[in-house]
Amino acid sequence: MKVFIKTYGCQMNERDSEAVGALFVQAGHTLCDHENDADVLLFNTCSVRDAAERKAKGKIGFMRKLKLRNPDLIIGVMGCMAQRLGDQLLAELPHLDFVLGTGQIHKALETAEKIAAERKKIANTDVAPEEIDMLGAHSVNSQSAQIAITRGCNRFCSYCIVPYVRGREVSRSKESILDEARSLVDSGVREILLLGQNVAAYGLNGDIRPPAEDHSPFAELLEELNEIPGLARIRYTSPYVSYFNTRLISALANCSKVCRNIHLPLQSGSDRILAAMNRQYTAQSYRDKVAQLRSAMPDLTFSTDVIVGFPGETEEDFNLTRELMNEVGFEQAYIFKYSPRPGAKSATLADTVSEEEKLRRNNILLDDLQLRIGAKLASLTGSTQEILCEGVSARNPARWTGRTGTNFVVHFDPDANVRPGYLRQVKITRSGNVSLFGELI
Ligand code: 5AD
Ligand code: SF4
Repeated sequence: MKVFIKTYGCQMNERDSEAVGALFVQAGHTLCDHENDADVLLFNTCSVRDAAERKAKGKIGFMRKLKLRNPDLIIGVMGCMAQRLGDQLLAELPHLDFVLGTGQIHKALETAEKIAAERKKIANTDVAPEEIDMLGAHSVNSQSAQIAITRGCNRFCSYCIVPYVRGREVSRSKESILDEARSLVDSGVREILLLGQNVAAYGLNGDIRPPAEDHSPFAELLEELNEIPGLARIRYTSPYVSYFNTRLISALANCSKVCRNIHLPLQSGSDRILAAMNRQYTAQSYRDKVAQLRSAMPDLTFSTDVIVGFPGETEEDFNLTRELMNEVGFEQAYIFKYSPRPGAKSATLADTVSEEEKLRRNNILLDDLQLRIGAKLASLTGSTQEILCEGVSARNPARWTGRTGTNFVVHFDPDANVRPGYLRQVKITRSGNVSLFGELI
């Protein structure tokens, strides 16, 4: 069978889709890049904002045309929206064949094969935390690979659907993660991105209290990964700020392969809003943690997630967020307009900020960010940076791109000696709006 997989949402979803694709390939099927060529269409969906669900539903609805043309076509929906809506999706979209929730994604292959043989509809949203290691297969051939180290989330931020659709937080065993990492490196991978809803809670058995200052199973995992010969870089996303204790900060500073970039979701700079969001920190404790991290690693860069227009967010609350963002000087930020999610705690609060005002606040933060990124990139002109070479630039085939450990993209002219996955020194010659240009040394 030819299988087309379309993914919505976060990197965890990207990773799950890759693993599902690999399971199909291992069973002798092939992946294709276009829905028109496929015998099986899989949609791996997101529920984090209403817009994410609408987008996926629109696309899946549109697939009815393909099904009318080819009644043998198998169409399945997996992931967070599948978990949230379950059977309801089969009723709403009668051309669908199956729905698999977040705990059942590893069954996509057997489900599609079963439907091909028996032609019956299947919806399965059972929770199955014991299957956590079953999505370890990889199919992407690149210098960079992703490994899911935890699944689910126990934090219950009041706006967030994730704990309801991805279930309780479970950590994989260290051995299983290290085996996966070693086998990726054996197959040529040079950079590993560790994924989890709260990666720094790895190995804490779902306890939502941040651990004692000297205890961090995540730090121990990083230290062991750091020892893998042939691995050049380790990244991770996303950690919750409260879990950066002295044990973890010193491991980050001492592990030469762990990149100097942290995606550290802030969500809001107002204590009142942070409390309403059930975030277990204050603006000041966030600030202090950033200072502590920077004093251990002065070259660290930070990126973040922020929500504008949470219920009750006043102009004053918004300005506190804006000021804190400018003060920390995030090198990258993802800004979201608040979207009430049925089932999440905050959905019971009145959505007080108008769509128009959310957009205005969103644009102010984006403008600040653009100015800051431009200035930061310009300040790097003349510096020497180590990059991990990725390959030919998508925009200019004469050039290559690579990335610094601090997560800036660098374009450069290749020499005879450059390969994807090589670490090279580059002298930065100029900056653009979103990336750098340099010469190999
Ligand atoms: N509305 C808007 N943004 C949200 N996020 C999570 N839930 C919501 C919501 N209901 C954002 C948060 C999170 C990112 C993945 O999505 O900023 O960090
Ligand atoms: Fe979307 Fe969250 Fe699910 Fe990722 S975990 S797909 S962001 S709802």
